[in-house]
Amino acid sequence: MLERTLSVAASRSARLFSAEMISPRCDQGQGTQASFVASDFVVDGSFEEVKLYISAQGLYRAFVNGQRVGEDLLTPGWTCYDDRIAYQEYDIGHMLKAGSNRIEIWLGDGWFRSQMMWVAEPIFNCWGDRIGAIAEVCADGKIVLQTGSDWRSGLLPVMKSGIYWGEDYDARISPACSDGVEILSFDKSLLVPHESEAVRELEPLQPVARWNDEASREIVDFGQNAAGYVRITVDGERGASISIRHSEVLGPARDFDNRNYRSARAKVTYILSGSGPETYAPMFTFMGFRYARFKITGNATLRSVEMVPISSVSKTAGGVTTDIEVVNRLVKNTIWSQRSNFIEIPTDCPQRDERMGWTGDAQVFANTACWLADCQRFFRKYLRDVIADQRPNGAIAHFSPDPTRLHPIPGRGDWAGSTGWGDCITVIPWQLYLHYGDSDILHEAFPAITRWLDYLWRISDGPIIRPTSVWGAAGFTFGDWLQPVGDSRKPRPTISDDCAATLYHFISTELAARIARVIGREDEAAHLGSRADEIKRAFQAEYFSASGRIAHNDMTSWALAFEHGLVPERHRETGKAYFRRVVESAGGVIGTGFIGTPALLPALTKLGMGDLAERLFLNRNVPGWLYQVERGATSIWERWDSIGPDGAIHSPEMNSYNHYAYGAVCQWLFEQVGGISPSPDHPGFEEVLIDPHVMPALGRMSSWHECRLGRIEASWTLIGSRVSYTLHLPFGSRGRLLPNPNRSHVTADGQTVEIPKEGLLLGAGDHLIEFINHDIALV
Ligand code: BGC
Repeated sequence: MLERTLSVAASRSARLFSAEMISPRCDQGQGTQASFVASDFVVDGSFEEVKLYISAQGLYRAFVNGQRVGEDLLTPGWTCYDDRIAYQEYDIGHMLKAGSNRIEIWLGDGWFRSQMMWVAEPIFNCWGDRIGAIAEVCADGKIVLQTGSDWRSGLLPVMKSGIYWGEDYDARISPACSDGVEILSFDKSLLVPHESEAVRELEPLQPVARWNDEASREIVDFGQNAAGYVRITVDGERGASISIRHSEVLGPARDFDNRNYRSARAKVTYILSGSGPETYAPMFTFMGFRYARFKITGNATLRSVEMVPISSVSKTAGGVTTDIEVVNRLVKNTIWSQRSNFIEIPTDCPQRDERMGWTGDAQVFANTACWLADCQRFFRKYLRDVIADQRPNGAIAHFSPDPTRLHPIPGRGDWAGSTGWGDCITVIPWQLYLHYGDSDILHEAFPAITRWLDYLWRISDGPIIRPTSVWGAAGFTFGDWLQPVGDSRKPRPTISDDCAATLYHFISTELAARIARVIGREDEAAHLGSRADEIKRAFQAEYFSASGRIAHNDMTSWALAFEHGLVPERHRETGKAYFRRVVESAGGVIGTGFIGTPALLPALTKLGMGDLAERLFLNRNVPGWLYQVERGATSIWERWDSIGPDGAIHSPEMNSYNHYAYGAVCQWLFEQVGGISPSPDHPGFEEVLIDPHVMPALGRMSSWHECRLGRIEASWTLIGSRVSYTLHLPFGSRGRLLPNPNRSHVTADGQTVEIPKEGLLLGAGDHLIEFINHDIALV
């Protein structure tokens, strides 16, 4: 298979394992008591380096002489396991002693075989029904131990675990070997070095409030919605137990409300061994929560509790602060939603029975994600899953890794091919190119990109796509998912599926032409370029009236059409006027869903309608970004109205309080308000495009981003209408201050300057740029 060859070849040279994949004979299958494999081994002599290479079907945690190996969580990670399985490499020399040593590998069901997907269509044993481990210990390059038929196995204190299930642990059980192992038939060429950073624990969070509910169960508020688990220290008699339930929100009486977890049990239970203070945190699961509820049965006391957030992106690489506290909190909430949902793959949410790598969510957020954390390896790995899931007809899956590819759901068609979602295959590689100068990913993704475009061309009616509304049928689209429509007595117009799909048809085709140009595929670039022109002409003929009004006349259509150059030049001014009227007649509240939102404020700002952008952004009513922050959100909600002004929960079962998609507004804060963008001509921040749009209501703003070359900083303050803009560019980078008719009397580092058409170059280091701002009315 072409994609397979590419993805394996593109990963760093993979180790050829001579060990076997072994499975504990005592394993009773999915959802039963967990088991381990173990072996004793002798290390003779002294070695400079002893390494453990290890992977598993399911999840593993390894121990050498009773000590945990490494700090990585949920290893070997999550990939399309039929395409690749990651292995990890650890130094274990310091854990060994002369003579006999023991290695134990604990195994859990994990993504490999615990429930995937929601209750109506759950899939168990998705990638196989046998868990197993494969491992080799190498001393100075020589294999001294490997998994094989001579290993032993036994049962663990983990009585049951699952990604959605949680974990049940009986500390009275000490692991003891009871059985042998079985060698599984396993294709070792699937093994690749871990392609992204491993999931790690972040700084633990302490309770900010605790109280008892009516049934005397203690509820603890950790003050932050995140993904991870609770670590407890508990003291009590043998056989006493403690159960922990999780929730993102509380009900009206400060009681627990986790209806939105649906069939995800997300519960942890621990039975005490009675051996003094016992500390425990689950190892084969995670939950999305802010609150935990503890129920103790028998004689036991909780000595301490803490929340341990986990993430694949443990370091923050960017931030924005302004004089408005709720804005600062919104940025923090976005960072938290990214952390919580960047666990091996970019998931929609970390709590309910989904936690899937929805492609649409990932593509709308990709740019913001790269500002806030270093996501190059993370997204590259994800793209390999997306490519592995691509259908023979070119359709890209709704989510990746995609359990439905291996287990089609009868009568539900193919879960692939939605515009706005499948376009992640063009958008994400492009973002990686912009942010990291990564052209390898463009080469790697290009065949999948062209097959996606061919798919779109086939399902379209000429260049215009007319999607079906039948779920699972070719051409189905999510459109502008979760777009608010205003008061139900007088709904506002919203973009139609065909307009949204055709817009994305253009976006992806035009991006693909650019990608082809970067990687030197001139013929394809020319072909794609003319296809993009054809879609543009068809779009303009189909969706623009003679007077310059776009069909549906809604914020998403205008924002995307302007952002992507689809508004005919002759209609530019009327278009702007319509766009303004649409925002004003909505009373300055947002009218966009998943795909329209990232484009809305950038489009308005670049069109010189910063006043509207500012108004939409600072609106405190629903729908709006700051509404949820003022209602106490500590991460980004899935819906604009997840909790209504009267406290009512909208659609309690189809709701998430930790969905990063709308956090994509941070892109605007960095690029338009902060005025720094990566340059497509000199990507990876070798050149930074500089074009700040001052929003006076924010008071002051400062932004920073740690790029590969170092730290970029951009801040502005206002005195009257005079703006003081300070900039720091790292060594190896340069800036290009772009001309803007809304700026006059510009000085750079004390000198009056004229900004040429192509922009003014600024070297690395510190700069002070001052100008008079005419962007929006100043008070
Ligand atoms: C997910 C989304 C996703 C959507 C597609 C939802 O269930 O949580 O974020 O993009 O389905 O419609």
